[in-house]
Amino acid sequence: MKIALPDLAAMDRLGRAIAEALWPDDVVALEGGLGAGKTTLARAIIAGLGYQGEVPSPSFAIIEVYDPPAVRLPLIHADFYRLADPSEADEIGLDDYRQGAALLAEWPDHAGGFKHEPGCLSITLEVAEEGRIAIVEAGADWLGRIPQ
Ligand SMILES: Nc1ncnc2c1ncn2[C@@H]1O[C@H](COP(=O)(O)OP(=O)(O)OP(=O)(O)O)[C@@H](O)[C@H]1O
Ligand SMILES: [Mg+2]
Repeated sequence: MKIALPDLAAMDRLGRAIAEALWPDDVVALEGGLGAGKTTLARAIIAGLGYQGEVPSPSFAIIEVYDPPAVRLPLIHADFYRLADPSEADEIGLDDYRQGAALLAEWPDHAGGFKHEPGCLSITLEVAEEGRIAIVEAGADWLGRIPQ
């Protein structure tokens, strides 16, 4: 499925729709090159989960953790760009962070990818003439709750 995202308001709407549908153990895999809009969409999702503060890009820390009551459900926002090898995701304790939490993953391939998980919603952002295009692939757990 392709979704046109002509401007930041459209990013915000998609992010909030994803936030409403999100469950613990889900992964939103945000793919796309440098500047494609991954952090922008992650921020919209985090805001949709109720977070009112400023959301830092996790590009330096790799993992940022958000816990209730500031958000509706436990959430991990990760940027795996700086991982040299997927095995480093284990070394930083990704599995422990993920216990009972949803994961927003920028550069998911650098952590080995998540598309084999039924709870994975993969969103590839591409620069378009106007804004961005999102290509959405939903794992089995997302059937019936894919944001329109
Ligand atoms: N739909 C859109 N239309 C127009 N501009 C957008 C859209 N989405 C994001 N942008 C702009 O694109 C720029 C880069 O966005 P962002 O930082 O989210 O990218 P990123 O994919 O996280 O990049 P990186 O890989 O460097 O972390 C920002 O200035 C943002 O405002
Ligand atoms: Mg980013």
